[in-house]
Amino acid sequence: MKKFVYMDASASWLKPQSVVECQRNFLRNFYANAGRGICARAGHVDNLIADSRQKVADFIGAAAKNIVFVSGTTDGFNRIVNIVKNTLNKKCPLVAVSDLDHHSARLPWEMQAENKNCKIVVMPLDDNLNIDLKKVPKADVMVITAMSNVLGVQQDVAAIIRSARAKNPNVITIVDAAQSVVHTKINVKDLNCDFLCFSGHKIGADTGVGVMYVKNPDVWAVDKFGGGMVNKITDLRIVFNKSPEKFEAGTLPLTQIVALPNAIEYLSKWDGGQKLIHFMYDELIKLKNVKMLTGRDACMISFVPKNMHVLDFGALVGAHDICLRVGNMCAAWVHKKLNIDGSVRISVGPWNTVKDAKYVVDVIKKLVQ
Ligand SMILES: Cc1ncc(COP(=O)(O)O)c(C=O)c1O
Repeated sequence: MKKFVYMDASASWLKPQSVVECQRNFLRNFYANAGRGICARAGHVDNLIADSRQKVADFIGAAAKNIVFVSGTTDGFNRIVNIVKNTLNKKCPLVAVSDLDHHSARLPWEMQAENKNCKIVVMPLDDNLNIDLKKVPKADVMVITAMSNVLGVQQDVAAIIRSARAKNPNVITIVDAAQSVVHTKINVKDLNCDFLCFSGHKIGADTGVGVMYVKNPDVWAVDKFGGGMVNKITDLRIVFNKSPEKFEAGTLPLTQIVALPNAIEYLSKWDGGQKLIHFMYDELIKLKNVKMLTGRDACMISFVPKNMHVLDFGALVGAHDICLRVGNMCAAWVHKKLNIDGSVRISVGPWNTVKDAKYVVDVIKKLVQ
């Protein structure tokens, strides 16, 4: 079979063998539901889930009770709106967002604003399109994209949160770490955020599992109801479990959770692919028909071909067995800010080689000349 060059890691990672093997082994030899059974086999699954939760907690500097398994970043962000809304004692909170935001981080709040349940304030960006630390607004809720999936630059999340707290000590801070988690070591204690989300599939785990970090789980009301989250129901009252179980109604994506530590371990050994990015950047920046949107040290390369529409470019590059991302990347606001409809994104993973990078550069050169 012809080799396919997959350089769309920022959309989703190809899966390492250790993840595939772990899931296969679990499904074939150990599968049972978690949090429900009392036989040894079910107890073993409980232990695997607890183990995975602890490893995720260690990975981001949290405790196990702060780690809620969700189905992905998008799920986490939609749930956080409901969790915050149910608890926040404010009629129309001011929610700060930015043009770096992915649709999943900002749209749930935009929809609340449409229904007049909150007001949106857009945080100014500086000349380099980073969140302007000097202009962090006063807000009740703040959505912070730690790394844009178009520009690939790590934001100074800790400083943004410090600045936000200086203006309102009670501001609720929500961090989108979907891209940042791939390239930057996260420590939620250093960030001091209230919520943080990322997806398993972008770090080599399977689809269907994500992480919602909750700093103070006891203060938040639950947003979903069902099996596994109830401690007791009497005639007089209903008592929910403590966190994280209180936020995990229903059966979890067990297979995906069990293999999440394998993905984390694999990610931890990767150098980030910056050498490949530098090589391709240095070649592409020379092309007169390529307008670069990212800098050399960004974690991905985004550009616009000057002589054709990005979707045509995507189709042509695809015909050469190369998978890149083209379009608005579910990040319409940053494209609007740049006055463009869409872009082309190259993002690499541990499976990519120098040969891949050379091939991609050669094909792009041919297409844009
Ligand atoms: C910055 C950012 N936030 C959020 C998401 C949404 O992630 P998911 O589709 O896994 O929920 C993405 C996915 O591309 C992203 O890049």
